[in-house]
Amino acid sequence: MKKITINVPASVANVSCGFDVLGFCLEEPYDEMTIEIKKTKGVEIKILNEKSIPTDPKYNVCGPVAFAMMKKLNFKYGFKITIVKKIKPGSGIGSSAASAAGTAFAINYLTGNKFSKLELVKFAMIGEEIASGAEHADNLSPVIFGGFTLVRSIKPLDIITLPSLEKLYVVISHPLIELKTKDARLIINKKINLEKAIHQWGNLGGFIASLYTKNYELMSKTIEDVIIEPQRLKLIPNFKKIVAAASTYSIGSGISGAGPSIFSICKGKGNAELVLDAIKKITDKGNIEYNLILSKINTVGIKTIN
Ligand code: HSE
Repeated sequence: MKKITINVPASVANVSCGFDVLGFCLEEPYDEMTIEIKKTKGVEIKILNEKSIPTDPKYNVCGPVAFAMMKKLNFKYGFKITIVKKIKPGSGIGSSAASAAGTAFAINYLTGNKFSKLELVKFAMIGEEIASGAEHADNLSPVIFGGFTLVRSIKPLDIITLPSLEKLYVVISHPLIELKTKDARLIINKKINLEKAIHQWGNLGGFIASLYTKNYELMSKTIEDVIIEPQRLKLIPNFKKIVAAASTYSIGSGISGAGPSIFSICKGKGNAELVLDAIKKITDKGNIEYNLILSKINTVGIKTIN
């Protein structure tokens, strides 16, 4: 096998209560990546439809992931990576994570599946760090494992896969502006108030319990961020209006990853369609263009196309 084409999905990190640790994988949107072994050394990257991302492997997240894997494998040849980017960079739904995770998955496949999923997340984290300036795996883990995941620890890396409820759908409201994760992290105060921390880890525990018990009322109470979201709100256009519009038919809403997208989790496709319509009424009025996406939770993660 010299070549593989994969569907690499978007993801939602944080899910309000789990900053840097909680995440889930989406069915839509996804990038298409083709990775092939080339006889010459090095990594060649082509992005067919997006000019804003560097293709020099030193600056593209795929490069360091590929180089680290080639070094570990003592690989004599090189790789050509071709990407059709459908997950917009700087959208808050794991664009760079998709590229890093897709590279790790494909190289593993082309070189005989020697690495575990956990090891693939570790390789992919090398790329994510370039994009966001910090080590975290909350977008990478759901893309590689599928469904909902909890990154219990970074050092050593420990990932827990959580139940994914069949009935859950998600609406993503993506304003067409770019917000770099690095910038959205710079504004966060590194010191946190103990009272707020207690509130937040109560919510995180409650959210995880709601997945195991299929308790949507509990889930609704726990989709709340009292630490990071209040600091980032100023970066997210129409946040309060969109959350209010979604609230009648959604379980809960919050900033998706570092933003500027907003996620709204819904029970059933019918409710998700009503939420999308309600949000559209808000976004159609303003002067910022939005991409509204309706997706099921993706329980598989990366899929091989051919
Ligand atoms: N947990 C990260 C953040 C997600 O909110 O900064 C972005 O990759």
